[in-house]
Amino acid sequence: GKGGYDHYMLKEIYEQPTALRQTIRGRSNQLDGRAELEELPPGAFSDVESIHLVAMGTSYHAAMYAQTLLADRGITAQAFLSGEYGSNPPPTDDGTLVIAVSQSGETADTLSAIRSVQGTGARTLALTNVVGSTLTRECEDTVYIRAGPEIGVAATKSFSAQVATLILLSERLSQDIHGGTPAATGDLLESLAVLPDDVQRILDESTAKSVAQAYHDSESYFFIGRDIGHPVALEGALKFKEITYDHAEGFSAAELKHGPLALVTEQTPVFAIFTGRNDTKTLHNVKEVRARDAPVVAVAADGYHEVDDYADHVLRIPDTHHDVSGILANVQLQLVSYLAADELSRPIDKPRNLAKSVTVE
Ligand code: M6R
Repeated sequence: GKGGYDHYMLKEIYEQPTALRQTIRGRSNQLDGRAELEELPPGAFSDVESIHLVAMGTSYHAAMYAQTLLADRGITAQAFLSGEYGSNPPPTDDGTLVIAVSQSGETADTLSAIRSVQGTGARTLALTNVVGSTLTRECEDTVYIRAGPEIGVAATKSFSAQVATLILLSERLSQDIHGGTPAATGDLLESLAVLPDDVQRILDESTAKSVAQAYHDSESYFFIGRDIGHPVALEGALKFKEITYDHAEGFSAAELKHGPLALVTEQTPVFAIFTGRNDTKTLHNVKEVRARDAPVVAVAADGYHEVDDYADHVLRIPDTHHDVSGILANVQLQLVSYLAADELSRPIDKPRNLAKSVTVE
């Protein structure tokens, strides 16, 4: 059941600290600064040359996030919408690792992307929540995100658990491909270890309700961010449109001047995500939308005050490692979407036209 919550979505948002503890349990060895995934013995990926990530929807946003994590570690990686990949697969060979990211492990587009590389020599890895799902049978290897069952159509705790798992996997791949332990790993594993508590702090202290109350009458919303803030912006907008039925659009803050700025008026709240990297550039974009009188909601670290004078609201996230900050920013956006949809009395757990898993292409 819903355990006293009005909706599964809210229950699953609040389950995130527990889900994340399960995700990282036994997988991050802070003593020697190494990430360990029990399913994948050390060295399993030492001959990988490039990585394709295939996924849809929220899982695609996690895949985009991982593309950045891997690039930061000097690993060639690209995220693809699995529904596009299968119909026009890019070249793969025995140096390619194809990672399929899917909460359910039953998404038809993602299964067909994996089938499209079979016989090319590419290795396949499932990153999923559901034990024994079709995807785990189609891929050579599987890593579970261990988020626990997700019932709400809007994916919430699965995104957080996917990204946390992809952080560990990126570290593992980097150890295999480059050897040794990167100097920054210790800080990162420490930030992962406190991530469940950081998420709990957001759940306890969020001011998302005042944001939802202030703006739920708007008809259009924009979400901008850079780097890992870009997939988080896309995810914030996807969640918002799924459950509020209002128009919401996410894009890279870098794209703003190249078109979307034409739509920005005093009627379009803009959510700006700050993740601790390239924040000055994103702040510049905030000043541009501000000059068009758009309301600004910043999502920013406790210690980042440069934005305070330019934002109507600041949703705070604990200071943490850059790679982890996007998970925290996304939790704030989950709360805004949920609370805005609740103000509008939408059927949050079963949005019109949508199914929990999309088993046809
Ligand atoms: O089960 P999967 O992760 O493969 O599902 C992919 C998408 O269908 C899914 O994330 C969808 O976009 C959600 N409704 C998003 O909240």
